[in-house]
Amino acid sequence: MDVATALKQRISTRAFLDTPVSEAEVRAILDEARWAASGGNLQPWRVKVVAGEARQRVIDAVQAKLATDPFTNEADFPVYPESLWEPYRSRRYQVGEDMYALLGIPREDKGARLAHLMANYQFFGAPVGLFFLIDERMNPNQWAHLGMFMMSICLAAEARGLASCMQEAWTPHSKTVAGALGVEAPEIVYCGMALGYADTSAKVNQLRSRRAGIDEIAEFEGF
Ligand SMILES: Cc1cc2nc3c(=O)[nH]c(=O)nc-3n(C[C@H](O)[C@H](O)[C@H](O)COP(=O)(O)O)c2cc1C
Repeated sequence: MDVATALKQRISTRAFLDTPVSEAEVRAILDEARWAASGGNLQPWRVKVVAGEARQRVIDAVQAKLATDPFTNEADFPVYPESLWEPYRSRRYQVGEDMYALLGIPREDKGARLAHLMANYQFFGAPVGLFFLIDERMNPNQWAHLGMFMMSICLAAEARGLASCMQEAWTPHSKTVAGALGVEAPEIVYCGMALGYADTSAKVNQLRSRRAGIDEIAEFEGF
């Protein structure tokens, strides 16, 4: 698969088959993604990959927290600015509305919307979960580079016929996840990712998110 195809074909997959993914397959993906660039070649990333019992341990820990203490936000940073401004506010709203329209879940059906959100905490059924760790002493610069590593994983997975979904949904529960995974300071859990084979029959996987046009995001000069 060429890069352009992988870039256009990759989506956030939110329903997976329970078909297992071998450790060898995940290793092969990471072996490709580790060539992602980073400033000063710091490679400011580490990743915990969980399947089977380890995956279930994380799910159980977060489910227990959700049952007793759902609103405590354990994130080391605000996932979004407190009040988003345009055009970001509308973009965020739009993708949510597009998804719920596709699924036929109206705004008033808070229960169904919540149930959809909660599927995050089962990795949307994916057999493999990844958690991205960063040293808390790193600067915003290094966080950006961790993101490039994550995207490289998504593209490498795509090229191998696997699907992914990055998951900041885990971030408000990052200390619970860290506890379940044995992650200790100065490392913190940034974000999760679901990895597996897409359930192509699931409606949610038909969602194609929109993108701003080139002239909205780029300015050209001197050509
Ligand atoms: C860092 C990051 C975290 C994300 N976290 C979640 C998440 O927790 N749950 C979810 O359903 N989608 C999550 N997404 C997916 C975004 O909503 C998605 O990338 C965006 O709407 C564009 O859609 P696409 O990935 O299908 O192209 C995340 C994406 C990124 C890059």
